[in-house]
Amino acid sequence: MTDNVFTADFDEIDRLINSCTLCSLGSKRTTAVPGNGSRTAELMFIGEGPGYYEDQQGLPFVGRAGQLLNEMLGAIGMRREDVFVTNMIKCRAPNNRDPLPIEIRSCGPYLDRQIELVSPKVIVTLGRYSTAKFFPDEPIGKLRGTPANWNGIIVYPLYHPAAALRNSTIRASLERDFLKLPSLLEATTPTAAPVQPPPSEPQTAQLGLLDAPPSQSADRPSEDSAAEPQDEPPSDQKQLGLF
Ligand code: URA
Repeated sequence: MTDNVFTADFDEIDRLINSCTLCSLGSKRTTAVPGNGSRTAELMFIGEGPGYYEDQQGLPFVGRAGQLLNEMLGAIGMRREDVFVTNMIKCRAPNNRDPLPIEIRSCGPYLDRQIELVSPKVIVTLGRYSTAKFFPDEPIGKLRGTPANWNGIIVYPLYHPAAALRNSTIRASLERDFLKLPSLLEATTPTAAPVQPPPSEPQTAQLGLLDAPPSQSADRPSEDSAAEPQDEPPSDQKQLGLF
């Protein structure tokens, strides 16, 4: 047993997250949501943060956005048990507001260790917050659908399913991008030499394995909110979470 996040195993990471009080969300949560799924998954999804139902159940993506995620996985012949699913922040933010930088920073080492432990071939970032972890300088509308190499892992930014639930154009785009996942998983680990950034920066290099995303009005960044009003009881329907 260790209290060191950098050497923790899966169970220890879950335990550390479940007892975490590094930021103020620790005292507001019902249950922390460390993430779940296959610990040897080739495919890992990173969302934004738990919503109402996730906070109640301690499991990621169990609301309507999660149902859409499951449906899209089904469309490519995969099940939730085949993949690992987690979030940028592990505790629900009040009224599903956008995560604060301090909250993302506090959870960062947990997520980094989860990525290290799962060691996936492909990471799908769902929405702008997880996409910004790997590509801090570009809007999701520009990045979505284009895989890139990050430290030997293919990072594939997609729109957040919650945004797709509210906007049919975004949904069509997300579903189309999702169908490209099998060929990404088939692809050999990228050999494109990543740029050597400063130590604290993620290593990214665009792969160009897939078609360039079509330009369309749905790419407007402001439509990528992960806010999930449909998943909330009426009194919680507050957050817009625009860019
Ligand atoms: N939205 C997220 O980003 N994560 C969840 O777990 C649920 C909804």
